[in-house]
Amino acid sequence: MDHFLYRDGVLHAEDVPVPDIARVVGTPLYIYSAATLRRHFQVFDEALAGMDHLICYSVKANSNVAVLKLMGDMGAGVDVVSGGEYMRAKAAGIPGERIVFSGVGKTRAEMRLALEGGIRQFNLESEPEMRALSEVATAMGVTVPVTVRMNPDVDARTHEKIATGKSENKFGIPIDRARAVYDEIRALPGLHAIGIDVHIGSQLTDLQPFRAAYEKVAQLTALLRADGHDITRLDLGGGLGIPYEHGNEAPPLPMEYGQVIRETVGDLDCEIEIEPGRLIAGNSGIMVSSVIYLKQGEGRDFLILDAAMNDLVRPSMYDAHHDIVPVTEAEPGVDRLPHDIVGPVCESGDTFAKARPLPPMKDGDLVAFRSAGAYGAVMASEYNSRPLIPEVLVDGDHFAVIRARPTYEEMIARDMVPEWL
Ligand code: LLP
Repeated sequence: MDHFLYRDGVLHAEDVPVPDIARVVGTPLYIYSAATLRRHFQVFDEALAGMDHLICYSVKANSNVAVLKLMGDMGAGVDVVSGGEYMRAKAAGIPGERIVFSGVGKTRAEMRLALEGGIRQFNLESEPEMRALSEVATAMGVTVPVTVRMNPDVDARTHEKIATGKSENKFGIPIDRARAVYDEIRALPGLHAIGIDVHIGSQLTDLQPFRAAYEKVAQLTALLRADGHDITRLDLGGGLGIPYEHGNEAPPLPMEYGQVIRETVGDLDCEIEIEPGRLIAGNSGIMVSSVIYLKQGEGRDFLILDAAMNDLVRPSMYDAHHDIVPVTEAEPGVDRLPHDIVGPVCESGDTFAKARPLPPMKDGDLVAFRSAGAYGAVMASEYNSRPLIPEVLVDGDHFAVIRARPTYEEMIARDMVPEWL
């Protein structure tokens, strides 16, 4: 459920008409709903009720500091995968003891940064990384809690670019090496293994792969405990999918996901962490764009927008579907005709949707891309020298720009021409 609804034929973000925001801020832009973000956090919190747990929002989905502050204020922890994300979490006021550091290639500089600023745990992904963290922690005179990310070799049945839990993927350590790895950690100074980590992929629309992975985690917990390791924390990753085609898809609910957690690892007396990103941020955001031209092609009409693949890359990168809706609803009974919806960037890949039925549109009309709050703004680039688009947060009847649109001058000022040129 989200808070982007039509009232009197006009799309609203909570209580604010979308055209009002577009008028003030300009298009294209992202709009997020605070109420939806809060609700999605609460739904997970309720799903894990009764279990000792921490919801570590996955910063990569939407890393705006205002969004992180909103999450942090509700008691969320965060999952970060870079020094930059760590610094954003700190800038949002999230204490180190609620920050988990994941990722396959943490550098020594990133390890130092997090150890200086405080960290809940590192999720380690390889033996060389374990040894590097041991060296860094020892040099700083600290002992750091760690988990090891296991690769459970389960098929997440999602898009190949976002599946991570098969043995051929670069992520984690094969589960059959686990005992040797935990024994090595015990022998390394500066590290204390306190748990197990797993994350099998993103946009999962079936609970079975979660169940299969978490059953393996439960078995491993018993094995490692028998070896004398003090396993008290299980990080179960993120990945629960969202409906992108409203009305046509019904992925499992957080409550059902929570039940799988309860059934597989609920009685192990461990603190449970999960790292949802998309389910919290995805349907909490829309991207709003204006029609620049309606162009007639051979047998099809092109709707040329002021947003492009650099602003929202998911359709060209993953063939992802986003519902695209007119901000002002058409009169009932108006015919919908197929449109190819494209941006102005100079490649054919800059296509958001093909043959999408839309009522007649004209220059200046607004459209909204739904489900754009996760992996939207964070994956944007300045390709074709298009400045990054602004982000707005709505809360009830008011809104604020939470990232401004840079001017051309600001964008260009980062380049430097050497004086010898
Ligand atoms: N934890 C780890 C270690 C991850 O790698 C990810 C996502 C998450 C948590 C959060 O997963 P979520 O709950 O959001 O599914 N750019 C792609 C998605 C990449 C996901 C990468 N890892 C997309 O636009 O679909």
